[in-house]
Amino acid sequence: MKLFDVYPINDIIITKAKGSRVWDNNDNEYMDLYGGHAVISIGHTHPHWVNRIETQLNKIAFYSNSIKIPIQEELAAKLGEVSGKKNFDLFLCNSGAEANENALKLASFHTNRKKIIAFKKGFHGRTSLAVAATDNPSIVAPVNETNNISFLPFNDSNSLTDYFKLHGNEIAAVIVEGIQGVGGINVANNEFLITIRSLCDQYGAIYIADSVQCGYGRSGKFFSHDHAGVDADIYSMAKGMGNGFPIGGIIISPIFKAKHSMLGTTFGGNHLACAAALAVLEVIESESLMQNAEMIGNYLQDELKSISDLSGTRGRGLMIGFDVPESHKNLKKDLLFKYRIFTGEAKPNVIRLLPSLGLSLEDASLFISTLKQAIAAYQP
Ligand SMILES: Cc1ncc(COP(=O)(O)O)c(C=O)c1O
Repeated sequence: MKLFDVYPINDIIITKAKGSRVWDNNDNEYMDLYGGHAVISIGHTHPHWVNRIETQLNKIAFYSNSIKIPIQEELAAKLGEVSGKKNFDLFLCNSGAEANENALKLASFHTNRKKIIAFKKGFHGRTSLAVAATDNPSIVAPVNETNNISFLPFNDSNSLTDYFKLHGNEIAAVIVEGIQGVGGINVANNEFLITIRSLCDQYGAIYIADSVQCGYGRSGKFFSHDHAGVDADIYSMAKGMGNGFPIGGIIISPIFKAKHSMLGTTFGGNHLACAAALAVLEVIESESLMQNAEMIGNYLQDELKSISDLSGTRGRGLMIGFDVPESHKNLKKDLLFKYRIFTGEAKPNVIRLLPSLGLSLEDASLFISTLKQAIAAYQP
């Protein structure tokens, strides 16, 4: 058997990782500013995370949700404390797509409505409804197609208000990333998120904050939607939640009433995943990683803005994007293969930085000087 060939793969085998560094099978060291797609939140193989998982593994790794699992309650309490959403409830699952799928389903159950508003360039995952709410027809299979989703322009409060005036009483939910990730690092402005909140209140729709990529402290606040100063009804999470251990979840405002069997999963909330997720929250708190993300993010953005070959530097905290001119279109590849720095990308020529929230100032400044060196090599 061979692997189903769906991923464009870099010819690199990583065998070791620590903090913001990874090493390949020839012992070459790389700086990791991609974090395996925004997943590494507290740093690779963080000792507290390893210890929490190891200790749990030696006790019990899994049992189904048919018994009491106190570590789930411990996680819910800690998440409420660190996120500030203490009166929300937690439902655990395994991935970002599954989190959004459950969020959308819950919104539909609650409102007894079918219509969803999503936004251009949004990405919400690859399961049936999540992919239907994703603005990329090439990944939507015919069976996923539905007329229940409308795509509106991002950051355009007038279009949204007009749409609500016409169809407000049919809308179950608005789903929005606080910072679009796959779409190329587009920050939702505060006024737009405040408009979503007030239209949802006015028409009885649910505000779903997709925080799968932009959440978990990456923006400098726990949820990037928090920058707008209003609460969503449901926040979806995954990626940074387990620092590489697969776990996802939604937190749910007190307006929702739970009913047995309404949502469910076999693996969601297993003992090991909860141990990993607790370790992440404990480290975010003990190492002040949200403050670090804000500080290092500001430093990086200031430095990137001063590099004249680059444009459109944007983002919040350690979720940063910038545009690369066509003449430098190999920059991401060169950073990886010549300078041994992992970065992310978005089409057409955007470089995305999604490092560990513990990235040091030394590494950030080493990246900037290496980037300048890489760019200088393109001068005729
Ligand atoms: C904003 C957003 N939502 C949802 C997802 C889907 O998450 P997963 O790949 O864990 O299903 C992603 C993944 O990139 C994402 O960026």
